[in-house]
Amino acid sequence: MNTPSIPPVSSAAERTERASDTFSERGVTEDILHTVQCAAGVDFSGYRAQTVERRIRNRMMTLGIHDLAAYHRLLRESAEEVQSLIARLTIKVSRFYRNPPVFDAIRSDVLPRLAQLGRPVRVWSAGCARGEEAYTLAMLLEDAAIPGEVIATDIDPLALLAAREARFEAAVVSDLPSEWAALFLEPIGHRAQTTYQVRDAIRTRVTFEHADLTTASSNAAAPFDLICCRNALIYWNANVQRAIFGHLLSNLHQGGWLCLGEAEWPDRVSLSRLDVVAARLRLFRHRTTESPR
Ligand SMILES: C[S@@+](CC[C@H](N)C(=O)[O-])C[C@H]1O[C@@H](n2cnc3c(N)ncnc32)[C@H](O)[C@@H]1O
Repeated sequence: MNTPSIPPVSSAAERTERASDTFSERGVTEDILHTVQCAAGVDFSGYRAQTVERRIRNRMMTLGIHDLAAYHRLLRESAEEVQSLIARLTIKVSRFYRNPPVFDAIRSDVLPRLAQLGRPVRVWSAGCARGEEAYTLAMLLEDAAIPGEVIATDIDPLALLAAREARFEAAVVSDLPSEWAALFLEPIGHRAQTTYQVRDAIRTRVTFEHADLTTASSNAAAPFDLICCRNALIYWNANVQRAIFGHLLSNLHQGGWLCLGEAEWPDRVSLSRLDVVAARLRLFRHRTTESPR
């Protein structure tokens, strides 16, 4: 008769060893983030721990490194690797005219009011990735013949390099109204290999700058009439998000517009300084002190 196999009960010593492995891995992860902060000035300690751990592992896999401590050594020796890790930690999924109803609303409801300002309009794309959102906002201004510029900022220098090149795959521009694609993009190559270069009329409206939203330094171009900060906040913990909201509002004109990503919502204090224009679209307006509610 076969005796059923009983899974071995791990000894207290084994359990302690495993626990201390996890503990020391946590320690190395913290050290890695500290190295990134010293080398690049970016503090990822308020970034979601799971995302940080998964993405460090992911980067190690690409490099064929299996040991966290070995990866940390590489990071300490290579400024280039620090940039590559920042690029891997941050999520840059984006596209032109992402979530069309939001841009439709900006086009039909926000821009006509901004046009009435009678001066060049200032727009901030905060967490701009490779520039998809910033160029879309510039197209909106150009299409409506509104003078103005878009300041686009991101924490990831490699994303900003790509953004300045302004060349995109077909899939990334496919949500654009077709007449805009024809007007504002120049196809390069042909058929399956076609990529799209943003034309100068749009490029000259956008300035890309490196900036970390978690550091509360005021944006030199502030205050803005419209701030789009979409899908950049979700990976930060609640404390960091609160600080970022405060930072965004201090850079927004009274009466100015704020647009967030669909999974984002202002904290209670920030919300008390905003009017909700369209909750579903995450569109808000900075309350003016003249008309408090
Ligand atoms: C998913 S992309 C969103 C791009 C675009 N806003 C959109 O909604 O399509 C998020 C971007 O936010 C940037 N980001 C994340 N945290 C940031 C921070 N603290 N300061 C500046 N940019 C940040 C990332 O590097 C990334 O490019």
